Order: sequence, then C-alpha cells, then structure tokens
Amino acid sequence: MREFDQNSITEAVIGRLAECEDARFKRIMTSLVRHLHDFVRDVQLTESEWLTAIEFLTDVGKTCTHKRQEFILLSDTLGVSVLVITLNHPAAEGSVESTVLGPFYWEGAPDLPRGSNLAEGVKGEPTFYSGRVLSVDGRPLANALLDIWSGDGEGNYDMQLPEAPGMKARGRIRTDAEGRYWFRSIRPTFYPVPTDGPVGRMLRKMGRHPYRPGHIHMIVSAAGHLPVTTHLFVAASQYLDSDAVFGMKESLVAQFDRHPPGTGPNGERMDTPFYTVSYDFRLRPAAATAPIEA
Ligand code: BEZ
Ligand code: FE
Repeated sequence: MREFDQNSITEAVIGRLAECEDARFKRIMTSLVRHLHDFVRDVQLTESEWLTAIEFLTDVGKTCTHKRQEFILLSDTLGVSVLVITLNHPAAEGSVESTVLGPFYWEGAPDLPRGSNLAEGVKGEPTFYSGRVLSVDGRPLANALLDIWSGDGEGNYDMQLPEAPGMKARGRIRTDAEGRYWFRSIRPTFYPVPTDGPVGRMLRKMGRHPYRPGHIHMIVSAAGHLPVTTHLFVAASQYLDSDAVFGMKESLVAQFDRHPPGTGPNGERMDTPFYTVSYDFRLRPAAATAPIEA
C-alpha cells in the first residue's frame, strides 16, 4: 500500500521496522508509534497545536546547558522519571526506596569524618542526622558511603545562590564498623523546581504549583550492594501531598524531632532549638538483581 488513512498509517509506520535488528529497540519504537498516533487521534490534534508542541520541545532543548537539563525537568514534572525509577526499583524487596536524582547533584563533595557539620555557614535550623546502613537481611554495612546534599533552610541550593559560594550542605560520610553514620546539617524546607523556563510555563498553564516538600538527598552505596539514589522527607513539610515531581514516598518520610536549646547529641552546646532525625537505609546485595519482568 502506498497511501494511508488516519488509521492505517500506524501499522504502516510500524511495518517499516521490519528490518530492525535490535529487538528491544524495535519493541520500544513500535509501542511509541502506536501510543503517539493514538494520542493524536484521541485529542484530534490540530496543526497549530502540533506546531506549539514542537516549539515547546525546541525551547526545552535550547534551555539546556552544561548546568541545566530542562528535558529531565520535563520528565520529572510529567512523572516519567519516577515511573521509570519505580518500575526498576520495586519497593517490596526490603531495600530503601529510590527517588529522583534532581538537578542539584554535584559530584566530588568532600569526604568528611562522621559527626561533621555539612552546613557550616548555611542558613537553616540545625539538625543531627543518624542511623545505620544495613543489608536487607539486617547485617550492618561497614564503610558504606552516604553522598549527601540539600538546599538550605530557605530552599536554595548552593548552585542557585547569586554569591556562588561553592559547595555547601554537601558531603560524603562513611559508616563505622557497626554500619552507623551521623552528621549535622540543617532541616531542609520546601522549594520550587526551576520555573524560569518552558517547563515553568507549562506548569503555570496546567494550573500546577512548582514546589517540592522539604527533603535531603543522598546516594547510599556499599561494596557488593546496589547503590540507591534517595531522599529523606521532612515529616511535617508542606507539599508532601503534592510533590511537583511526584518523588515523595511514604517510606522515606522521617520524623524530625524538635528540641529546645541545650546540649546536642554530640555534646555540643546549642543556643537555638535543634532537630534530631534517625533513619536506617537497607541495601540489596548486587547479586540479587532480578531481570525486569516483561
Ligand atoms: C530536587 O529535588 O532538587 C529536584 C528534583 C527534580 C526536579 C527539580 C528539583
Ligand atoms: Fe532537592
């Protein structure tokens, strides 16, 4: 057939994959074409709407720089990032759940001794974090690594501050022989995803707010175990119910207990109220990785 109508065109495009040798790629492209065509038929897309979509995607691409990835932000705000993460890291396996990496990870944070204050000179309420890194069977993991980062108590990451202070509220802490970690930082607050680009325009047009609930990020890793990119969410934070990137997971919500000024858990004299939070991270042995079911 050389000519196609609004229905037969779908099978025609899929048919052109007949000589594709990569079975996985073929499956992905077949499904993509089918869903894309169904979408166009479903909403009866007009030519000007399609042009608007193309201009939007062009703008998303043009907004990307070596410091900003607007396509990932688009994927995050449409829930695709968390969908992919959730499919690939099922919750039921006893491991700490994964969530989005986000755009503010900065490789090369300093290696700091346990107990360090990661947020020296950073605005925010002091918080003492502690817990253990364990294997899913409960074995403590010595020398596990927590690569930690957060915004400040006003919702700004170091990279966003106009004074460009370099790395702040970041650090890499290793567990002791009993798998324990502890460090000081601040209690993160809610903040908006970047809204000054096309994704921000899309959110406004959708009638959506751009906020993420307060959270601290970490990548937790240990020899012989699968690393996990995750967060701890502040239990009382605003926007836990409507995270702009859908990354909130109940199992990652941690209680931040408030204490009056006095002696901190490290014996330090605290002149202001402070918080303590405790959380154990469980990791799956690398050998236990099961192939993703079709
Ligand atoms: C963040 O947590 O920092 C973040 C994650 C996804 C998109 C924007 C920000
Ligand atoms: Fe964040």
